[in-house]
Amino acid sequence: MSGSILLADDEEKILKTLGRALRDEGFDVVTTPSAREASRLLAERAFDLLIVDYLMPEKTGLDVIREAVGATPDGERPAMVIMTAHGSIESAVEAMKLGARDYLQKPFEVEELLAIARRAIEDQRARLGLRYLLDERDVEFGHYGIVGNSRAVRELLARAERVAESRSTVLLTGETGTGKELVARAIHAKSAQRNRPLIKVGCAAIPETLLESELFGHTRGAFTGAVTSKKGRFALADGGTIFLDEIATVSQPVQAKLLRVLQEREFEPLGSERTEKVDVRVIAATNRDLRQLVAEGKFQEDLYYRLNVIPITLPPLRDRREDIPLLVDHFVRRFASSAGKRIDGVERAVLDDLTKYDWPGNVRELENTIERAVVLANGTVLTQETVWLMGAVTPAHGPGLPSLRLHQNVEWAERETIRRALERSRGVKKDAAELMGISQRALSHYLLKYKDSI
Ligand SMILES: Nc1ncnc2c1ncn2[C@@H]1O[C@H](COP(=O)(O)OP(=O)(O)OP(=O)(O)O)[C@@H](O)[C@H]1O
Ligand SMILES: [Mg+2]
Repeated sequence: MSGSILLADDEEKILKTLGRALRDEGFDVVTTPSAREASRLLAERAFDLLIVDYLMPEKTGLDVIREAVGATPDGERPAMVIMTAHGSIESAVEAMKLGARDYLQKPFEVEELLAIARRAIEDQRARLGLRYLLDERDVEFGHYGIVGNSRAVRELLARAERVAESRSTVLLTGETGTGKELVARAIHAKSAQRNRPLIKVGCAAIPETLLESELFGHTRGAFTGAVTSKKGRFALADGGTIFLDEIATVSQPVQAKLLRVLQEREFEPLGSERTEKVDVRVIAATNRDLRQLVAEGKFQEDLYYRLNVIPITLPPLRDRREDIPLLVDHFVRRFASSAGKRIDGVERAVLDDLTKYDWPGNVRELENTIERAVVLANGTVLTQETVWLMGAVTPAHGPGLPSLRLHQNVEWAERETIRRALERSRGVKKDAAELMGISQRALSHYLLKYKDSI
């Protein structure tokens, strides 16, 4: 794991041991036996993490922390951890009050320190990452999980934030998996009506015959099977937001009724004479080209204009590739944490592949790819094998095939087979060879051939 650490302790021996352990983990470590020197270094350059001993000759670790807090704004300060001697828990508590995230009570195991350092740096990154994605923009949007720092995403966020303040109808368009629903939720959550309901209607998922009653409700006996009356989703969304997903699939009669709600803010439930009024913001989404459907006579023109008050187009992922590493990082973190695995990141080569790939399923496809890779991962890094295995990066080549290069695929299959056979035989070569139906000599030959990659 990478990250920069400043380690300050007046005991040279401790400094040396801990410094080495942290460096072995991949951290970039600066050590100093002097508290004054630590303060100077902190003022001079940025660190991800400060680990400081409490008891030092010139001043205490607490003083170092206090000065750091005073001298640097919250967002630029390193994560801070204090080491205290046995029995001086008060200083640890004091440090935490000042903003230290953790403390280590001496004597402690090196493993303990490493675990704390890893977590601190990870959190610190997530925190800074958020800042970096959103820069000065209202952090609230960050909580809705919209990750990206490309120009397209920044513009999108700015627009979504502005529209959140109004009650205007929004039309979200974009390919599948680009985040239309995510943005719809963010707009609602940011609006003044955030405490009122957000009701989603997946128009394509509801059978055509039921959609009208789902949207507008019905009275008892309005149609066969309507044994009780039922409130429609527009009524449920009153005062809040209704999210009409996959709006392009709506039938002509329902389109007409939707047009009326948009124009008049009123409707009649099925079987009812009574007109109901609603105060609801409409957000519609589609991955189709509505204008085209209008031209083909499949979508009502008036309704299109009523929906298209504030159009927001979500760019396909392949048009904002610079967001891919950020998204990868975000999903790795999320799925590793939910799988309870420690995954530090993705191999350089994998990241290259992921960045080059065209992602027809956009962010959803990337999300699924990372989830599968995390589940499959054996080590702490997602390797080309894990990602290839799922064929996710290369669906054009067929599931599970890394490429269209015959030899490359054959070698890949050989490596995979051997790896799995060895796994099954718990490393006993004789058994693995038997499972594969080859001689032990042949297996030795393969092991030599692939010695670095099995
Ligand atoms: N910018 C983003 N940052 C983080 N996650 C994202 C982003 N965009 C999309 N996602 C995630 O990708 C998945 C697909 O997003 P969403 O459901 O919003 O897509 P959609 O545009 O509605 O797709 P569809 O047209 O297929 O319904 C979701 O799990 C969502 O959380
Ligand atoms: Mg959707």
